[in-house]
Amino acid sequence: MSGTRDELSVADAAELLRGGVLVAIPTETVYGLAADATNPDAVLRIFEAKSRPRFNPLIVHCPGREMAETIAEFPPLAGKLAETFWPGPLTLVLPRRPGARLADLVSAGLLTVAVRVPRHEMARQVIEEVGRPLAAPSANPSGRLSPTTAEAVREAFAGAVPVLDGGPCTEGLESTIVAVGDGAPVLLRPGAVPRDAIAQAAGMEVADHAGAGIAAPGMLATHYAPITPLRLHASDVRQGEALLAFGPGAPATDGPMRNLSPAADLGEAARNLFAYLGELDAAGADAIVVMDIPEQGLGEAINDRLKRAAGMAS
Ligand code: TXA
Ligand code: MG
Repeated sequence: MSGTRDELSVADAAELLRGGVLVAIPTETVYGLAADATNPDAVLRIFEAKSRPRFNPLIVHCPGREMAETIAEFPPLAGKLAETFWPGPLTLVLPRRPGARLADLVSAGLLTVAVRVPRHEMARQVIEEVGRPLAAPSANPSGRLSPTTAEAVREAFAGAVPVLDGGPCTEGLESTIVAVGDGAPVLLRPGAVPRDAIAQAAGMEVADHAGAGIAAPGMLATHYAPITPLRLHASDVRQGEALLAFGPGAPATDGPMRNLSPAADLGEAARNLFAYLGELDAAGADAIVVMDIPEQGLGEAINDRLKRAAGMAS
């Protein structure tokens, strides 16, 4: 096993990770740029490879609840949410366990840590084989579109990062991030688990981070940004523009066009979002115009990403 083009096996990936090397790994949401979360040098390399600001903490990935319990404390509500959604695309921001074996940079000096147990089989296998938690942000240079295929990772890092190919991501949107302490769960980032599903499992409303006074430091307004400007809430397409459509009623256009889901299925739209934005970005249009997407269910997370891609997030 040598160059980055060779097919990595789970065992190869685990060996590299144990040696402090960064490896892009598949998850059900997006590909992650993984490092041994207990190795400060390896974690530092993540920040360098992504040009990521150091104040922006990382999500720690575990193969199951048992390892997660070694790094974080689980208030009763967190236990309930973990039971309902793990393995799966829910990240819990929890009190960091004193003495947790984690590089300090992982949680950027905060007293909390973000943990998640991915559903993707290969992701859990590789963490299991490393035997230590893996810190992994999305495998894109900071501020750019998140990759949902191994090929997109190779393009993003010009082949410089070894990639464990686990096929296209089945969710296509990052995990939902929820902070859990004593009170109601607080939504820090909408994502692949809709807010309603969390409220139902918790038996209470999910609070918004603005009201609760906490935030995910990484939620910058401009993020997931293509190079081409985005125009949201479009009903018409002008000469030279590309169209990102949704549903059956797409306006006619001769220009480049992708439909996130002709059948108006939000799950399909989520899966296609980053790949289609990337394809339209490469078309060299003056702007990408985006049709409205309903704000229900997964629509909340899709619209969040679109607003950030347009640099318009609040
Ligand atoms: O689906 C996902 O979550 C993907 C895959 C690879 O697991 N990961 C991902 O990581 O999206 P990243 O680094 O792109 O986004 C993590 C977000 C950032 O906005 C960061 O600020 C926030 O999580 N975060 C991490 N630790 C936190 C903490 N202790 N408190 C608040 N926010 C935190
Ligand atoms: Mg990211």
